[in-house]
Amino acid sequence: MKTKILKKLRNSEDYISGQSLCKELGVSRTAIWKVINQLKEEGYVFDAIQNKGYKISEYPDLITKSEIESQLDDNNVIKAVQFFDETDSTNTQAKLYAEKGAADGTLFVAEKQEDGRGRRGHGWISPSGSGIWMTLLLRPDIEPVNASMLTIVSAMAVTDAVKKEAETEGVPLECQIKWPNDVVVNKKKVCGILTEMSAQMDVVNYVVIGIGINVNTTEFDESIKATASSLYVETGKHFKRSRLIKYFSESFTKYYDRFMKTQNLSDLKDDYNSMLVNKNNIVKIINREETFTGTALGIDDKGELEVVREDGSHTMIVSGEVSVRGLYGYV
Ligand code: BTN
Repeated sequence: MKTKILKKLRNSEDYISGQSLCKELGVSRTAIWKVINQLKEEGYVFDAIQNKGYKISEYPDLITKSEIESQLDDNNVIKAVQFFDETDSTNTQAKLYAEKGAADGTLFVAEKQEDGRGRRGHGWISPSGSGIWMTLLLRPDIEPVNASMLTIVSAMAVTDAVKKEAETEGVPLECQIKWPNDVVVNKKKVCGILTEMSAQMDVVNYVVIGIGINVNTTEFDESIKATASSLYVETGKHFKRSRLIKYFSESFTKYYDRFMKTQNLSDLKDDYNSMLVNKNNIVKIINREETFTGTALGIDDKGELEVVREDGSHTMIVSGEVSVRGLYGYV
């Protein structure tokens, strides 16, 4: 009901009378009044003109269930939001809820994570009020071997969403992807993605895609200072986190539809390669067996990175236990 009221107010250019809200939503005047008061307490600012009704003039930077859901279209992959003020990790929660039957398209969002998890056993610092810590639960009918490609689909959607949000705020911003799925701005990481899966031999039970975006973050831990940044630090603008999630949802829906048609990256790889910060750059590949340098060309249908070595031979790099660096640093 709060989501419905917020959606009506958000989508209306003009004032909406309490009476019309009651009528359209089939609830009492008191119920509407209670929700409006809750919204005011949360920081929504209403234009107050007597006898005209309600109109929101300012939106707080919230990522609550109603704030996000009221901006989602029915045709989006994200259908519902589960919000936590504070939790251990949205990936951990998404998996617990998935085991209990949570629906495909549920997005788990936290204002703060106490035990945010990154790739390769690293942690993910997730303080309150500045970032987007979210996990999308999907139940795709695909072969388990193809599920990791959803990380690439997600990185593309985050990149588009960040660009669109910057455009909306009227600031120039170059957002790219460091293979396979770090989203970077000015060669610094602003977003990381951790995808996990539950599957049997040939069936996916569910996939959880955990996405951490440093949006308005100003302080970084010593351990990540050299390579991490935030959208605020790179542009000097505070971005609206819920609108960024809305843009992500729209973009992810488009890329996901295209991915599901082929269940590989054949249709998306050109778009991905155009976002790739490493493309045609010299990279250093560090894996268990060897370290070598070469020029990164782009990904193939499976998301593997094609690299030409100095002797002219081509190697496909599979993500996982491999680290890709620029010659002099992170990118
Ligand atoms: C990486 O190491 O680059 C991946 C970081 C993924 C962080 C996100 S934040 C939301 C979700 N919950 C987690 O515990 N991790 C992911």
